[in-house]
Amino acid sequence: MNTSCIIRGMGHCVPDSVLTNADFERMVETNDEWIVSRTGIRERHVALNGETCVDLCHGASVAALEKAGMTAEELTHVIVATFSPDAVIPSAACMLSHRLGISGRMSMDVSAACSGFLYALETARALIALHPQARVLVAACDIVSSRVDYTDRGTCILFGDGAGAVVLTADAPGLSGGRVLDVLVASDGAVGDLLTVKGGGSGTPYKLGDTIRRDFFVEMNGREVYKHAVRAMSSVCEELLTRHGLTKDDVDVLIPHQANLRIVEAVGKRLDIPESKVFTNLQKYGNTSAASVPLALSEAVAEGFVKPGHLVLLGTFGGGFTWGSALVKF
Ligand code: UT7
Repeated sequence: MNTSCIIRGMGHCVPDSVLTNADFERMVETNDEWIVSRTGIRERHVALNGETCVDLCHGASVAALEKAGMTAEELTHVIVATFSPDAVIPSAACMLSHRLGISGRMSMDVSAACSGFLYALETARALIALHPQARVLVAACDIVSSRVDYTDRGTCILFGDGAGAVVLTADAPGLSGGRVLDVLVASDGAVGDLLTVKGGGSGTPYKLGDTIRRDFFVEMNGREVYKHAVRAMSSVCEELLTRHGLTKDDVDVLIPHQANLRIVEAVGKRLDIPESKVFTNLQKYGNTSAASVPLALSEAVAEGFVKPGHLVLLGTFGGGFTWGSALVKF
């Protein structure tokens, strides 16, 4: 059974509108100095023109297909990682397939908050192991702005909207792209209440006429999330390296979840990987949740930060809690 797969193409897409730190100074009691020193974020793209999860997934997917030299018709499976789909039913994946002009494929959403991309990647690997002819589209997108309370300064400054997508097939000699050497994902529901979006779920339903409550939006204990994120991301990255007999010196590029520059730097330090090998783009996108890692990977490749021959270590952490890492050889 062929269990190895390769990223044949990748793409990303963000909404046109940008909210800068100066914009937030006019919206809540905050300032550019606080935001930059605590998070590293300077601006984020936000779907102010009504762009939806499926719109951004479509943009990223078309770019990924083009890079892969494939048409949508060639896809066999469509997976979307998101916590903010256009609707509860139909799924974002069903809507994306339709937008791409295809039907008859398995199309499904994966919900793992900011770790969604690596969860979906692991799912795609399993599908390719089962069906070696599979050509799987994985799109990861969040319109976090649809679930952010823009009066809550503790959360609203952190997030942005975006999408990243990859097209995967079984590996074969002569193919170029990113060989997915391994993925390691995990979760712990015991600490799930530290980062939630509960309102509207069956545990906290809304009745017709109810006013939206705070639980409709992202609520979190920032300090606790911060500590868990640093610990979980560093240890899962270490575990994956050890599993493959690799050390930090084998890693050419580290791309951690783009939540906060201090978290990214702390993970780099714990892994003892020099800053020069760590890719960040959170300064201009903020935390884009499920899109964060594929958006960063796609940009890192497009900008030449990731070069042919490089070993890339991805790390992620999100609500659930969920976390994970992946090794991709370009
Ligand atoms: O994908 C995972 C999603 N979540 C995360 O990654 C978030 C992880 N956590 C963090 O990134 C950080 O905890 C934050 C950036 C959210 C906060 O940074 P912090 O250094 O942990 O600050 P804090 O929460 O301890 O707050 C310090 C102070 C507080 O004031 P007092 O209580 O000390 O008077 C806050 O009220 O900063 C205040 N504060 C702000 N001040 C200006 C909180 N938000 C703001 C703000 N502007 N936007």
